[in-house]
This record gives sequence, C-alpha cells and structure tokens, in this order.
Amino acid sequence: MKNCNSCFLIASDALKALRKLPDKYFSAVITSPPYWGIRDYGVKGQIGLEDNVHQYVLNLAKVFREVKRVLKDNGTIWLNIGDSYASGNRKYRANDKKYGARSMSIRPKNPKGIKNKDLIGVPWRLAFKLQQESWYLRSDIIWYKPNAMPESVKDRPHRNHEYLFLFSKKECYYFNNEGLKNCDGSKMRSVWKIARNSYNGNHFATFPESLVLPCIKSSTKKYDYVLDPFCGVGTVGKICNKLNRGFVGIDLNKEYINEAQKVIVTSTEILMNELKTFLS
Ligand SMILES: C[S@@+](CC[C@H](N)C(=O)[O-])C[C@H]1O[C@@H](n2cnc3c(N)ncnc32)[C@H](O)[C@@H]1O
Repeated sequence: MKNCNSCFLIASDALKALRKLPDKYFSAVITSPPYWGIRDYGVKGQIGLEDNVHQYVLNLAKVFREVKRVLKDNGTIWLNIGDSYASGNRKYRANDKKYGARSMSIRPKNPKGIKNKDLIGVPWRLAFKLQQESWYLRSDIIWYKPNAMPESVKDRPHRNHEYLFLFSKKECYYFNNEGLKNCDGSKMRSVWKIARNSYNGNHFATFPESLVLPCIKSSTKKYDYVLDPFCGVGTVGKICNKLNRGFVGIDLNKEYINEAQKVIVTSTEILMNELKTFLS
C-alpha cells in the first residue's frame, strides 16, 4: 500500500474484507450501501434484503464498526443513502418496462410498527444508530436530483432526493472547506443539486462523479487513501485516481469488480499480487 496512485479492488463481503485491512489507514470513506428493500443485487450474502429494517441497520452498523477501526482518527465518512416505503407486505415488485431495475423478486415485509404506505425513515434510523455508536453526525446533505425517475403513486409528492451524511470519527477532524467550492467561487451548502446518472453499464445505482468530487476534495489530501466498502463499479476509485488519491474498493459482486477494473483507467495495473500480500 505504498504506491501513491494505488488502487485495490476486492471482490468480497464488506465485513470479511474490512477485517483484513490495517488499523487507521484511510483518511475518508465515501460509500453508498445497498438501500433497504429497494434492489436485488443477485448475490448471496448481500445487505439490503434483510427481513426487517432493524436487522439491516444492525448489519450496516457492524460494517461501520470495522470502518471505524480502519479510519484514521481525523477521518470522515460520507454516507449516501435513500429511503423506502413499506411494501404493504407485497412479496415482489412487478417488472417495470421503462425502469427494469425497479422490479424485485423478493421484498421485505413491513417492519414492526410500520403501517402500509408508511415512509420508513431508513437513512435516519441508520444515522441515529451510528451516532449511538459514537460517530459524530456532522451534516445531513440533501442530494436533490433534478432528473429523478417519476413514480407511479398519485397520493403523495414524488421523491427527488436522497441523503448524504457526513460523519467524523472524533470531534476534531480534517476538513478543507475549499473542497466545497463551486465554479463561481460560492460554497456548496447542505442541498446539492446533482443529476442522477442514467443506467451505467452493468450497474443501476452508480454515484454521479460530481457528488463524489467535493467529498474527496474536502476530506482528503493528495496521496491519502479513500475506502469504499460497497464500491459497485468503482466510481469513487475512478475519481480518486484522477485526483491522486489511493483507493480500496470492496464489492460482493465479482462482475462489478471486473467492471471497476475497466473504469479505473490508470490502475489497469490493479495490484492483484500486491493485494494478495497485503491481505495475507
Ligand atoms: C448502491 S450500490 C454502490 C454503487 C457505487 N457507489 C457505484 O458508483 O458503482 C451498493 C453495492 O453494494 C454491494 N453489496 C451488497 N451487499 C454487499 C456486501 N455484503 N458486501 C459488499 N458489497 C455488497 C452491491 O453489489 C452494490 O454494488
């Protein structure tokens, strides 16, 4: 892990891989875990299809406990997460001709205490759990998506936002707010207007680059290491590479990891051998 422009990709369950990573190595974690009950990534061991939301939050909290160990004391997490509605105990979501990724063969039941049609509040449940586990919740950013997909419901406003939480490990941490500068010199505040990506190759929930850029710039310096324990096709790694940051990405789905290898151009020399040594 000495090479400044290194990029390591690990096809594994996040928790298992994290347990093998060294203490206090990363300056920042930028990630978007699978949302609860929204997508089926089709891999055994995936997070997001737990029977109940409480178990989902516990599973993610476990992952973030390991994240805390590998994060430097002055490090931060940028955590993107969206909400979901109670499924009404429907067991599947029918195929949507226009938005194929919305269909689901499995759907979790309504969580205890949640009625049909209730908004579950998943992001805040997770945020409060992490806060309880001693993370400092420093900001809730609304990611406003001007091109959000329309929904079919007619009895509530269609959703066009998600959350991006900023957590720190300690009360004082590295933060360069110049990294939040817009082109006109003004600073990004707590509502970020960023268009969502359209379907991206093999993956249907990728980060827009302009969401990741300010996170990297404000939370890391050149040659620092960034971690994404749910890296999908490696969007964070791609930008780390451009900005001269090292990167470690983990994803359970091997196909996404293969795609990430292609996306992260300068690190086609992805250091598989080095990775073996590093993980042994
Ligand atoms: C919302 S997507 C992340 C997309 C990513 N930000 C990008 O730009 O490509 C969540 C990812 O978590 C992965 N995943 C699900 N369960 C996992 C687990 N237990 N360990 C590691 N990755 C997992 C899925 O395969 C999926 O790619």
